[in-house]
Amino acid sequence: MSRFTATCRRISRAPRTLVSRVISRRHSVATKRDQWFVDYHSDPSRQVVGLRDKTDQRLKLFRTEDIAGKRVLDAGCNMGAIVNHCVKLGARRVTGLDFDSAAVDRARTLYSGPTTAFRCDDLDNPLAALEPHDTVMFLSVYGTKELEDRNSILSRLAGLSQVMYFEGHHGDDPRQCAWVLLKYGGFQTIEFLGHTNDELRQDSIGRPFFRCDRVARDVTIVPELVEKHIHKDSAFKMAVVGRSGAGKSYLAKQWAADRRFDGVTILDDVNDRDQIRSTGRLVLLDYRAGTYIDEIDTFVFLDVDENTRLKRFDGDPLRQDDYNALLRTPPVQGNFLSFYRIEARRDG
Ligand SMILES: C[S@@+](CC[C@H](N)C(=O)[O-])C[C@H]1O[C@@H](n2cnc3c(N)ncnc32)[C@H](O)[C@@H]1O
Repeated sequence: MSRFTATCRRISRAPRTLVSRVISRRHSVATKRDQWFVDYHSDPSRQVVGLRDKTDQRLKLFRTEDIAGKRVLDAGCNMGAIVNHCVKLGARRVTGLDFDSAAVDRARTLYSGPTTAFRCDDLDNPLAALEPHDTVMFLSVYGTKELEDRNSILSRLAGLSQVMYFEGHHGDDPRQCAWVLLKYGGFQTIEFLGHTNDELRQDSIGRPFFRCDRVARDVTIVPELVEKHIHKDSAFKMAVVGRSGAGKSYLAKQWAADRRFDGVTILDDVNDRDQIRSTGRLVLLDYRAGTYIDEIDTFVFLDVDENTRLKRFDGDPLRQDDYNALLRTPPVQGNFLSFYRIEARRDG
């Protein structure tokens, strides 16, 4: 055990010599590149010309309240432009961590200051101490070759934070990213914010960008989301999935009478694929909805307190069958862009 600990400590101190898979030598060995990626960021204010952030587009997606006065970790910070941006937005403390020693040196030269700290470390190292932060940036790192165990790193970083900004890579399917964020991040909310510009590739539509948090929301978010998206040209398909007794039919009736849903088709428990596919603006309430709709934009999971649920069933024998049907339903599939876990009303 002490040899293992000593090995991990050595790795933490000298990541540039790291050859991965320290835990089991039976696994194949992946060599990590070091000192190869030192010109990633542009910073016109310092006459630095790099590959990205020529237009600062992705920086505009950060919410000030996620950063001002907060402790921020930029995991895979490269030469520190995002760290610097967080300082400008008023972060209390920003830590930039990267495996690439040359990039970290450059970050220190460019952006050292009273509220910044830079660390050369390997996110794969299980003994690398990572303190809790309010906000974690995990931008264009998830798919890089230097990550040996990307999902466990995502899970670990998510566990440290209340808010995470996540950016995928050129060619990444945003629906796949959203699914991975739900599966390994355990967030209450995963919002797809669109594609950010990718100056590295002319042929790219950009990189999928997300904001995730742990704020518990309630059903009032559904009409708000509908209002936000209804004016956009593109189709809008939302699935509100919840167990029997969560109050879906009650909500469907309420929303049908709500002017904010004008122009939106509300389907309650309608298992008709053709109708679902051919309806452009749709809010679908169903315990199966996550499994049979092909392209949901927004997936809302309606959580219900078990005692409330059972109280609603009281004296209704049909409900038991409904519950058994739910148990036979295959698990919800990851086919959405944004996800919201919300609390059902206790009185509804
Ligand atoms: C494509 S760059 C993105 C830089 C920055 N996050 C941004 O979006 O502007 C990926 C960075 O992740 C770092 N990285 C990759 N694997 C890492 C690991 N295992 N531990 C720490 N940093 C890592 C790389 O060294 C590189 O600087």
